[in-house]
Amino acid sequence: MILNINDLLVSISYALDFVEKDVIDNVTDHGKSVAYISARIGKAHNLTDEDLFDLISYALLHDNGMSNVLLHNETSLEDMEKKRIHCIDGERNLEMFPFINKKKNVILYHHEHYDGKGIFGISSSDIPFYSRIIALADCVALKYVGKETIPNIHHYIEDEANKRFDPDIVKTFLEIQSKAEFWCELESMYIEAAVFNIIPNVKINISYKELRDVSQIFSNLIDAKSHFTGNHSKGISERIGILCEYYGYEEEEYWKMRIAADLHDIGKLIIKRSILDKPGKLSENEFFQIKSHTFHTRKVLEKIRGFEEITEWASNHHEKLDGSGYPYGLTKENLDRNSRILACVDIYTALTEERPYREALKHDQTIKIMREMADNNFIDNSIVQDIDTVFKKNSMNQVLSKLNFHHSRKQIEIQGY
Ligand SMILES: [Fe+2]
Ligand SMILES: [Fe+2]
Ligand SMILES: [Fe+2]
Repeated sequence: MILNINDLLVSISYALDFVEKDVIDNVTDHGKSVAYISARIGKAHNLTDEDLFDLISYALLHDNGMSNVLLHNETSLEDMEKKRIHCIDGERNLEMFPFINKKKNVILYHHEHYDGKGIFGISSSDIPFYSRIIALADCVALKYVGKETIPNIHHYIEDEANKRFDPDIVKTFLEIQSKAEFWCELESMYIEAAVFNIIPNVKINISYKELRDVSQIFSNLIDAKSHFTGNHSKGISERIGILCEYYGYEEEEYWKMRIAADLHDIGKLIIKRSILDKPGKLSENEFFQIKSHTFHTRKVLEKIRGFEEITEWASNHHEKLDGSGYPYGLTKENLDRNSRILACVDIYTALTEERPYREALKHDQTIKIMREMADNNFIDNSIVQDIDTVFKKNSMNQVLSKLNFHHSRKQIEIQGY
């Protein structure tokens, strides 16, 4: 497919800005604000379209390693920013992202100080140029949403030239911020348009198999968010892969299903971890929030042209054949086979995982529960039957020997079954 990477970036930046909602109960568009400020600086430095595109991508994704930091119970974005782990994880997560001219260590060093007093002690031109821009943009964005006045931000940045920030970049920033319009664009109602008006339109030819490398970045983020569901998205994607091979899917549909599995819970990034990991019974309001996660999954994925089927399958995984599921209450007439498969594998994987309130269930116990669900017209009986056949302990080797695809077969792990 020809993918418009801008679509992917919009979608991803939405998901990443969700992470803030967990910490400060508000979305401040941190990623988009940093991207906008970085882009304005990059443009003033006469970057080529390709370099500008990469700078904006790095800036939108600069805090992609934050999910893990959530487990440290920080309560402000500013405190989270000080954790070196988000730089390390963020750099590693983006190894597979399709930048045009990939640069090393941009994310790793996005909190370095020009004078060498930052997290890793790197200084001046040893810090990548994009990292120096992002460091300044990050500081401005945090101060701006922290209700610091514009003159105060201006003076702080000016004072930090040669200390925290690169003096050339400070000079550029001071010039562009002197016009009121620079700050007006940062308003939450304008910021998304401000970013996407400035991104050069870049399209790349990429296969669904290659796109799966990108989707895995996000399944890692989702899985990192909870102690209890640490491998949930990965586990589903592996099982979906095995099941799709059993069904003899063509390569393209196979990879689309893997991507849908990776991203099915991306909407959970917006739900508070205290609710996701709550050991006791959820209140009605908390349950409502849990139920909203597939709606958010849809909103994130539907922004990507070429992802129409993936969006459908990923977002329908809590719908039930009799219309009692959520968030739309779709019925069997609206639920295609791949939506049903993903729903079943989600249930199978969830039940065979440990939860705060129960042990992991064994295969036979799980299938028994799923059969009852099929009898109640919640899920597809024939798929439950296939899951039983394919994932039954003794038949795993038989399944694996049947695999006739040429890709990634060796990565399939059968431990844990
Ligand atoms: Fe950061
Ligand atoms: Fe940041
Ligand atoms: Fe889910």
